[in-house]
Amino acid sequence: MVLEKFEQSHFQGRSFLAVKDFTPEEIEFLVDFSLHLKYLKKNNISHHYLEGKNIALLFEKTSTRTRSAFTTASIDLGAHPEFLGSNDIQLGKKESVADTAKVLGSMFDGIEFRGFSHANAEALAKYAGVPVWNGLTDDWHPTQMIADFMTVKENFGYLKGLNLTFVGDGRNNVANSLLVASAMLGVNCRILAPQELHTSPEVMAIAQKFADQTGAELLVTDDIETAVKDTNVIYTDVWVSMGETNWEERVKLLKPYQVNMEMFKLSGTPADKLIFLHCLPAFHDTQTEYGQDVEEKYGITEMEVTDEVFNSQYARQFEEAENRMHSIKAIMAATLGNLFVPKI
Ligand code: CP
Ligand code: NVA
Repeated sequence: MVLEKFEQSHFQGRSFLAVKDFTPEEIEFLVDFSLHLKYLKKNNISHHYLEGKNIALLFEKTSTRTRSAFTTASIDLGAHPEFLGSNDIQLGKKESVADTAKVLGSMFDGIEFRGFSHANAEALAKYAGVPVWNGLTDDWHPTQMIADFMTVKENFGYLKGLNLTFVGDGRNNVANSLLVASAMLGVNCRILAPQELHTSPEVMAIAQKFADQTGAELLVTDDIETAVKDTNVIYTDVWVSMGETNWEERVKLLKPYQVNMEMFKLSGTPADKLIFLHCLPAFHDTQTEYGQDVEEKYGITEMEVTDEVFNSQYARQFEEAENRMHSIKAIMAATLGNLFVPKI
C-alpha cells in the first residue's frame, strides 16, 4: 500500500516556515482545508486531530492574533498549548537556538515560533525533530497567507486570475509573503511602494519562478493608478514593522501611499468585486500610543489606512483576523494530525 502511505504522510512531520517551501497545490490544499475546518467549527462538529499533543508557543515579539489563534486552535484540536515568552525562557540569552530546540522537541509535539531572525526559525526546525510553524519572522509571515487567501476565496469563490494590490512597505514580511503566495495561487500581485521600499531581487526571483508555473502576473511599481487599476483586493500593513524604529523616514516615504477612498475609486472596480484587507494591528486613528505619538510628531491622525476605509463596505480585516484561527488549525492538523490527505 505505497500510495496510502504517501497520502497519509504527505504533510506529516513537516515544518511550515515559508510558503515557498511548499508547492502551489499544497498551499491551495491548506486554504481549502482551513475553509473546511471553519465549517466544522461553525457547526459544532468536533475535530480533535491533535488529542493529547503538547504545543509550545515561542514569542520573541508581541502578538494578539497569532498567539490567540495558536492557543484556541490547539485547544479545539484537543492539544495543550503552552506560551513561552521571550522573558520566560533562556533562548538567546543563556541558551542557543539548537540546544533550546532539542529540549523543546523532546517534550513538545509541535513548536510555534515568532521571532526576528528567519535563520533561527530554520535552526529550530532543524534541531527540534518536531514540526515548527513560523508565526512571523523579519522575512516571512506564512500562516498569515493561508488566512488571507482563505478570506479572498470566501469573498470571491475562487483565486486564480484575481488582482491583489499590496500598498506600503514593499519589503516587509507580509509584502514578501503576499507576492510569493499570490504567484503560487495564480493571483496577479502588484506591490505599490516608493522606490526605496521595492521588493528585493531575491524575493522577486522566488515569486517569479512560481508565477512562471501558474501564469500569475507580478508588478512592483510606485505608480498608484497602475497598481490599483481593476484590482480586487487592496491590502496594507503597518509602515514600521516590529523591530524597526525609523518612524520619521517611513512617515515621509509612505504618506503618499496611505490607503484612502480615492484609491478605491481610482481602481474602477465595482464595489462587489473589491475588498480591503489588513493583517492587523492597524493605525487608522489615534486610539493607540503609537498613533498619538505620530500625531504629535508628524501631525497625521491616520497612517497606512484611513478610518473611513477601515470602516467601509470594503473592509474584511476582522473576518481575516478570525480566519487566522481556522487556518492555523489547518496547518497544525495537516502537519501533526496524521491525516488522510487526498493525493496532492
Ligand atoms: N497579523 C498578526 O500577525 O497579528 P499579531 O501581531 O497580533 O499576531
Ligand atoms: N509587518 C508587520 C506585520 C505584523 C503582523 C510586522 O512585522 O510588525
